[in-house]
Amino acid sequence: MSKRIRKAVFPVAGLGTRFLPATKTVPKEMLPIVDKPLIQYAVDEAIEAGCDTLIFVTNRYKHAVADYFDKAYELEQKLEKSGKHEQLALVREILPPHVRAVFVTQAEALGLGHAVLCARPVVGDEPFAVLLPDDLIWSRGAGVLSQMADIAEQTGASVIATEDVPAEQTGSYGIVATEAFSGRSGRVTAIVEKPSPDTAPSTLAVVGRYILSPKIFDLLEKTRAGTGGEIQLTDGISALMENDPVTAYRFQGSRFDCGTHLGLIEATIRYALDHETLSVAARELMVNTLSELGIREDP
Ligand code: G1P
Repeated sequence: MSKRIRKAVFPVAGLGTRFLPATKTVPKEMLPIVDKPLIQYAVDEAIEAGCDTLIFVTNRYKHAVADYFDKAYELEQKLEKSGKHEQLALVREILPPHVRAVFVTQAEALGLGHAVLCARPVVGDEPFAVLLPDDLIWSRGAGVLSQMADIAEQTGASVIATEDVPAEQTGSYGIVATEAFSGRSGRVTAIVEKPSPDTAPSTLAVVGRYILSPKIFDLLEKTRAGTGGEIQLTDGISALMENDPVTAYRFQGSRFDCGTHLGLIEATIRYALDHETLSVAARELMVNTLSELGIREDP
């Protein structure tokens, strides 16, 4: 498995119930972080890593995601006619011309492992990436998937992104045990989905970026419902590990859990403060708001 990845899978069939009522009509992947919908950040990261085929695993309620990546002729014509060239470029740059989007339906919400399996006919027999758009990862240098693709290419192993979490949070993540790390990488020796702190093999958590061998598909076909009654990607990886190397990678960057309200707020603050044109005004606005509310900067 030493080819550069070209295909990226985005499981986006979730209902986003945590963000109701906003997600009653707008999929959570379309919620904006400053000036782009959440999904665009993951898509940009995949394209930066060299992917040219984006596979969205979706459901019948997620028309907005497909519409977003489709060409909007009428809108483009209107913008062109009214001379709004900057806005026209924004709409046209959503996907570069060499990238194609493919939509696959997950008819039943049977779990992340099942969602990934739904992409099998499009992925075929080559290593591929999985990106969970809820995990938004800000990075100053190369994006996380690009960092991981380099390692997968060099080593031929599957690679999963990991980060240390507080012990009381192991129940929210896949948790890995590894051999000793060399630099940022260590071979995975065990992986468990959402263990309680007293049974967790470590506090090294899986975050939503994976580069996987296509061998995982046969294993996912055989994977039965696990934690939460769902077919877990973690269990497929656990089976893969028995015969194939899987590397845990401590990525460079900051992750925001945009599956929670606070994570979404935190990401918005970070991206606003780092924004090319908005950062100065955003900082001023934050300082003024804190002072108006009588909240001191340094408590
Ligand atoms: C999924 C995976 C879990 C992983 C997490 C990362 O869980 O099942 O192993 O740690 O994503 O965000 P979810 O957050 O979808 O429940």
